[in-house]
Amino acid sequence: MKNQNRGSFQTSFGTMMAVTGSAVGLGNIWRFPFLAGQNGGGAFLVVYIALVILVGLPLVLGEFTIGRSTHKGVVGSFKELAPKTKWYGVGYLTLITGFTILGFYSVIAGWTGRFLVEAVQGNFNSQSAAAISASFKEFTNSGYLPILYSVGFIAFTGWIVARGVEKGIEKFNKILMPALVVLLVLLCINSATLGGFADGMSFLFKPDFSKINGGMVLDAMGQVFFTLSVGMGVMLTYSSYVTKEENMPRSKATVAIIDTSIAIISGIAIFPAVFTFGIAPTEGPQLVFIALPSVFAQMPFGAALAFLFFAMLLIAALTSAISIYEMIVAYCIEEFSISRLRAVIYLSISVAALSVLASVSQIEGSSLTILGLNVFDFLDTLSSNYLLIAGGLFVSIFVGWVFRKDRLYNTFTSHGKYAVWLFKPFVFIIRYIVPVGVSLIFLSKIGLI
Ligand code: TRP
Repeated sequence: MKNQNRGSFQTSFGTMMAVTGSAVGLGNIWRFPFLAGQNGGGAFLVVYIALVILVGLPLVLGEFTIGRSTHKGVVGSFKELAPKTKWYGVGYLTLITGFTILGFYSVIAGWTGRFLVEAVQGNFNSQSAAAISASFKEFTNSGYLPILYSVGFIAFTGWIVARGVEKGIEKFNKILMPALVVLLVLLCINSATLGGFADGMSFLFKPDFSKINGGMVLDAMGQVFFTLSVGMGVMLTYSSYVTKEENMPRSKATVAIIDTSIAIISGIAIFPAVFTFGIAPTEGPQLVFIALPSVFAQMPFGAALAFLFFAMLLIAALTSAISIYEMIVAYCIEEFSISRLRAVIYLSISVAALSVLASVSQIEGSSLTILGLNVFDFLDTLSSNYLLIAGGLFVSIFVGWVFRKDRLYNTFTSHGKYAVWLFKPFVFIIRYIVPVGVSLIFLSKIGLI
């Protein structure tokens, strides 16, 4: 049964912006720099890029072939392609992952909202890094403030998703994504004027290979999954809204290149600041929030730039959160035949509840911990280092071994029109390299090999 009201992306540019909007998010600007900082900089970057090519991009293509061939959501797709099997369980796994990610993603997005407000008030003007760090801690420790901001973010995301695929998701992404790129490049140019520029650049680009170890490779792989929005059915869902034929491998490679470039550009904007202001690169999740305001504080037009930067970060977060929302909402509409609005409301309430827990667990001395991590870190680690990777593993096995070859071929090449030569290498990579590589990294991390 074809659902008439399902919605679809109207233009290839719109599709591209939506997919890029999903990929480019807090993962690039907030998560990449702090992980690179904790894992030695350059060496992390090298492992990360290798994994984008060998594992990330093939998986994005894998998810795209599934969604494009069925035009259904995460559970429906597996039911159609592998009827009478339990493969649809992977769909449920991705729903849980999405929910987990939204729980902490909305908290960071809330922080971003807060910094945006502070920027408008000019609060960073001529403050030291220590003062900014202290007032940030005061904010996260206050309990109710971070909650207000993240709930506001959740409501806004919900509002856009409720407007639907064309009028909400496609329309907003088409405007917001190009704006983001322009802003980031501006910041990067400014970073070249900082005293710590050389140190920052050599930290990011001079790999010290002795830093490579199992934990770091797993962190890098988790980051690849996270930043490309893969392993969670988001790409699968978006691809189900693509009705026009296109050169899929080429457009997805473009997305991967844009996404990786934005992570690197953020690194260029951030590490020189880290070294200029004597902030520890290993600071963790708060790195970007402490490093950049310090830069703005001493710059001409700093207040305006701070405003632009946090506006941009919020945009990036928004377009990504929208994609995760859509994956879950599409499932609810399809599975329970409820309206889009109703699905959005239920989801928002549940996400808000989880996000409150994550937020409260960030208060210093909070006893809200799971397995020794506060709820926030637990959700982040659980989703990126375990759930996404499990999802990606299943997707690769499914596409490589279960998906009927002729149907896979027709979707991948648009019935023999594009990238025919890539089909065989793609199948080889997704059959062998991805599952074996992912399993090895994972097993070595948990100490089994
Ligand atoms: N890729 C986004 C980022 O870098 C986050 C994101 C959006 C995501 N959709 C996802 C992560 C799906 C994992 C799975 O911030």
